[in-house]
Amino acid sequence: MPFRILLLFAGFFVIASVTACGPDDDDNGGEPVPCANCPVTDPDPLIEGPSVPTAFAVDVPDYLPRPVLDADNPLTVEGIELGRRLFYDKIMGRDSAFSCSECHKQELAFTDGRALAEGIDGRVGRRSAMSLVNLVFNGNGFNWDGSSGKLWEQAIHPVENMLEMDEEWENVLTRLRKHEDYRRRFRAAFGIDRPSELNREMVAKAIAQFESTIISADSHFDRVVYQNTEFFTEEEQLGADSLFFVEDVPLGALHPGCGHCHNAPAFGDDRFKNNGLDDVANLDDFPDKGFGDVSGSRFDNGKFRTPTLRNIALTAPYMHDGRFATLEEVIDHYAAGGHGVENEDPNITGFPITDRQKAALVAFLESLTDETLINNPNFSDPFQ
Ligand code: HEC
Ligand code: HEC
Repeated sequence: MPFRILLLFAGFFVIASVTACGPDDDDNGGEPVPCANCPVTDPDPLIEGPSVPTAFAVDVPDYLPRPVLDADNPLTVEGIELGRRLFYDKIMGRDSAFSCSECHKQELAFTDGRALAEGIDGRVGRRSAMSLVNLVFNGNGFNWDGSSGKLWEQAIHPVENMLEMDEEWENVLTRLRKHEDYRRRFRAAFGIDRPSELNREMVAKAIAQFESTIISADSHFDRVVYQNTEFFTEEEQLGADSLFFVEDVPLGALHPGCGHCHNAPAFGDDRFKNNGLDDVANLDDFPDKGFGDVSGSRFDNGKFRTPTLRNIALTAPYMHDGRFATLEEVIDHYAAGGHGVENEDPNITGFPITDRQKAALVAFLESLTDETLINNPNFSDPFQ
């Protein structure tokens, strides 16, 4: 049948053209044969596609503080989407085998559920992975010790850290430069013309743009206090008024007063304090010097950034080293009132607390969980 013969011929030509194409092919007098399926031979071609990004205004409800925006890294629709992909992509880790999201999971408010972070090959780090919500309000340095001044600078370190992603930036950049889709996305976000222009700073800035959009503002607490659409239970109200924010307590009485450092609406003041965790004989003895290593001042040893308590019920275990498994243990720690180390914060006083009050304080802390955040498709894994 003529039709079958035609097909046979077509098959022959497909095979012939596939075998005829390849980087080592010399049949054409040493010139490479052009072929759609062959790997790109030009190491630095022009990238096609749009190159002017679209400005993006981060959506912050008026009851939250104003964002601390980075003039060096304006938010754009294309940059944010690119950053989201990079955040979830294992291409960022050694052998393309580890992503940021392994330690920062959306369902756990971008923490990992571990006391100490676990990186590539199960290597255990020295601190607990932090939540990544509401970073755009922090102008006080990132990480537990404030060691990264800008959000995009922070993103550089996990890639190189041998206990985290253990990869050389040059390898990450080579993979991204070769990647058709990423090339185009870097052009769209940063206007580059050729893959060789794609650099580490752009990668980190795109990730920081994505992180800047992760806003938690729709917890039960927000709905009760700011949106006026829900009510506190009696227990939550007790936890709020007489324990957390200390409004009903007589002057001079010892009280939890968590709001001194974790006040609404941020629930963390991002300042560096010693909240009484370590019983050290002197200021040089802290197992982790925290902010002291950054500021160089001995008096800052053992101080860590006061983090937000938003979504705290999702982010156990607690503290920079994950030493407390539950919120009850955290409250017991504060009730015991520290160890009298000389740089402990004066608001670490210790206080009496009944089981009923403790349950009320936990109920209040649980009201800070934001289901909208953990289900927001804009923050989810784009590859799933
Ligand atoms: C192995 C687990 C792990 C991986 C992988 C990881 N992180 Fe983290 N992340 C941590 C830990 C631990 C901290 C706290 C670091 C410190 O204080 O020294 C942290 C802190 C942060 C902070 C600071 C948050 C704040 O409030 O200051 C940001 C932002 C962040 N990570 C983003 C990233 C990005 C972006 C990546 C990927 C490039 C990444 N992380 C990969 C564990 C991890
Ligand atoms: C003097 C300021 C201060 C007061 C008062 C205070 N905290 Fe903290 N809080 C901190 C600091 C600083 C940290 C980080 C300490 C660290 O990890 O080394 C912290 C960490 C936490 C954490 C762990 C956060 C995480 O992401 O792991 C919880 C939970 C917490 N505080 C709850 C409370 C509660 C509940 C109260 C009231 C009983 C309270 N805090 C009172 C300063 C304070």
